[in-house]
This record gives sequence, structure tokens and C-alpha cells, in this order.
Amino acid sequence: MFRRDFLKAATLTSAGLMIPTSFSQLATAEETKPLFRFVHLTDIHVQPERGGSAGMTKCLQAVEALDPKPDFILTGGDLIYDAGGPEYNRGNQLFQLYKHIIADHTGVPVYHCVGNHDVFGWSRKAELDTKNPLFGKGLMQDHLELEKTYYAFDHNGWRFYVLDSIQPTVEKRYKYTAGLDEEQLAWLQADLAAKPAETPAVVVTQFPILTVTSLRKQPEKLGEDFYVAGGPGMFSNSLEMGQLLHKHNVRLALSGHLHEIDRIERGNVTYICDGAVCGGWWYGPNIDSGFEVQEGFGVIDVHSDGTFDHHYVDYGWEAVKTSKG
Ligand SMILES: [Fe+2]
Repeated sequence: MFRRDFLKAATLTSAGLMIPTSFSQLATAEETKPLFRFVHLTDIHVQPERGGSAGMTKCLQAVEALDPKPDFILTGGDLIYDAGGPEYNRGNQLFQLYKHIIADHTGVPVYHCVGNHDVFGWSRKAELDTKNPLFGKGLMQDHLELEKTYYAFDHNGWRFYVLDSIQPTVEKRYKYTAGLDEEQLAWLQADLAAKPAETPAVVVTQFPILTVTSLRKQPEKLGEDFYVAGGPGMFSNSLEMGQLLHKHNVRLALSGHLHEIDRIERGNVTYICDGAVCGGWWYGPNIDSGFEVQEGFGVIDVHSDGTFDHHYVDYGWEAVKTSKG
């Protein structure tokens, strides 16, 4: 504690001696001050319709107003809504919008993660030139100046992995599935192995590595589409991924995609599916599963002992259009 802080919290006795009002209070305040704070903004899905631009702006204003202010914003994918169709202009305009809102409303550094809605044209491959460098993830990479869709960075003694969990499929109901491709997995394994064992780490993915939020309907109602064990709801190799993260001191695995919230602890890893900035795609809170998930984002306070606290912030957005009708 700095001396001036001690003096502020001290009081004068009648004899003129200074004594602290409460040593325990002072100690507690010091101990709970995080080493650093960051925020996790997943599933922003920015678009002009349904007030999405104003909603993202309000979210960033809420981030800026946090005390303590976060060191950075970690996004969780589905930055825009969406680029999957055949219209290049639509995805192009939405990424422009995303960048402009960030530039105009926050000075906090932003790390971009890819989501399935950020991928251009995958749902309409037959109609598009798949050799175009902007096809697929190229559009997002071009706008956000990402050499690769996965990368790592260090912050204050922690290592962060921003991963690309969107992989293409052939002849399946969905055009993508959850997981890492071979090249990315090899890179992650090598980087984790090279990282000092005592360095704690965080991974962020759009699709959860492990979640129960995929339990949206009972299996008898979904039949073969009950995709908890794979498909686009969760990593199909969740167990192996969990073992890898556990082995290399990854403390936290953040995700989005389901626009729901859950928290699972398995091994040394805490898995948090972290709601959605857009709630129910800007129609109001997400109620797909009968639970009301407000428009919000995660705040993570990292402590010097390697632990962290997480809480979800409802930033107070009220939908301007509450139904699809
Ligand atoms: Fe989403």
C-alpha cells in the first residue's frame, strides 16, 4: 500500500496520533484489487436493423465506464449478423460498421475471434467463387487485419489463445462444425508445450469446448440432430481438448454461440459460456431455452495468485423490436 493511501484511511486521535480506521478493511481492499481486468464480448452480431448499432455502442460505453477499466476486450466471435449468405456487400458493410463503432466508442484494445456468422458465403458455396481470397474467413481477416484466424498473446504473466473453432463440413445439415483443424491443433499443442508450465492461460472460442447449453431440446424430439456429442453445438472431442487444457495450466475456457450462460469446472479448467451482447439477436433477451438471458458481457478479474472472478454484466439494452413478426 502506498503511504498516501494509508494516510487517507487514517484518523487523528485526541492526542494527535494517527491510527488506521480499520487495518482489516484496508487489507481486504488491497487483496481484492485484481492484477488486471478484461472483458469478454461474445456474439455481438452487429447490424443496423433492430437497433443493433446502438446496442453495440451502448455495450462499449458500458465497458468504458467500468471501474476498474478493462485492459482489453476479448471478443468471442459472431461479431456481425451475418456474412453467411451470397451477398458480399452485406458482410463487407457489417464489418465496416463493426470497425467504425469500435473506433468511435472505445480506446480499449480489441482482440477479434471468428464465429460462424463471420464467415462469408459458406451457406451458399455453389453460387460463389470459392477461390476468391475474400470467400469464407478471408473477408473477416481482410477487414480486421488478421494474418490467421487463430493466434496467441501475452498479458501480465498470462497467455491468451484466441482460437478458430469453425470448421467446414461436407454434405451435412450444417455447413460447419465445432473444433480445431489439424494445423491449428498442432500449433496449439506446440505453443502450450513451449509455454512455461507455471504460466496460466485462457482460451476463447466461439463454439464451446464444453457446455450444457446445447441441451436445448430433449433428444427424443431432435433424433439424430441431438448434437451435444458433436456438430455445431460443442466440440466433439471435448474430452481430449479438456485434457490438453488441464495438462497445460489453462484456467479458463470462454465461449459463446449459444447466447446462453453456463459454468462448468472440470479438472483445473473452468468453462464459461458467456451469454451474448445481442441477447436474442437484438429482439430482446434470449429465451430459446426458456431461460431469460439478457444482453450482456463477461467481466473477468484476474488475481495475482492465478485465480479469477467472473461476472456477467447486463448493460441495460432494451430491444427496439421484440418479435420477428
Ligand atoms: Fe451467435
